[in-house]
Amino acid sequence: MRIGILGTGTLAAALGEGWLRAGHELAVAGRSPARARQLADRLGRGARAVTPRQAVVDRDAVLLAVSWQGAEDMLRSAGAADGSLEGTALIDPTNAVEHGVGVVLTGPGEAMAQRIAVLSPGAHVVKAFHLFPSEQWTRPRAGGGHPVTVAMCGDDPGALQIVGELVRDVGGAPAVLGSLDRARQLEEVAGFVIGLAFAGTDPGSAVPHSPVAQHTL
Ligand SMILES: NC(=O)c1ccc[n+]([C@@H]2O[C@H](COP(=O)([O-])OP(=O)(O)OC[C@H]3O[C@@H](n4cnc5c(N)ncnc54)[C@H](OP(=O)(O)O)[C@@H]3O)[C@@H](O)[C@H]2O)c1
Repeated sequence: MRIGILGTGTLAAALGEGWLRAGHELAVAGRSPARARQLADRLGRGARAVTPRQAVVDRDAVLLAVSWQGAEDMLRSAGAADGSLEGTALIDPTNAVEHGVGVVLTGPGEAMAQRIAVLSPGAHVVKAFHLFPSEQWTRPRAGGGHPVTVAMCGDDPGALQIVGELVRDVGGAPAVLGSLDRARQLEEVAGFVIGLAFAGTDPGSAVPHSPVAQHTL
């Protein structure tokens, strides 16, 4: 696939590494052209630094790997308001949560993913990759053990399919929770996980082990 990455930080580097390994082609952009060049050079063959607008045009998928406060600026630089992302799967991994506490900082009931959708008319926004730390995507899976589940949501079946493939490519298993109006719920889960982890509790121990629900009449 032809993938655009907006952002040059930790998550951009980790998913970029994983997707390159899977054979995809990357166009990397950030607000600093120098940092975009550095990241593209570090990632190596298959990655190149471009402008934010070039990173989103003609892509199968775009990852918005910036801090939540930077999402609006980054999308503006990419020309999102002019429809530059129309028809493109736009992955939102952002966590608008208070560091170390986990309180969600968007307005009541508001989701970052929905805010991003409003800023990017025509884009097929998929909330995904926000729950696991970036190292998850670069560490080799020991003994081919169980993949982690990447819960995601979005409105466009084609975009969910594309992002599902990109999840598998880095060793995850995609699970679609529902349409984009479930994004707030997924974003709250990140706050829950971050809050418990910083309080010294393994968040995994705070959810019941539920067998897969059987369909009943
Ligand atoms: N790292 C993780 O483990 C992880 C896991 C799940 C989700 N996430 C989410 O993924 C996103 C990226 O995280 P990260 O860890 O990669 O962060 P990071 O290493 O701190 O990088 C943040 C990126 O955002 C850019 N940025 C910040 N403000 C901006 C603005 N106003 N305009 C344009 N770009 C701006 C930064 O650009 P400069 O370099 O120019 O400052 C940098 O490229 C965040 O929303 C985070 O919540 C991260």
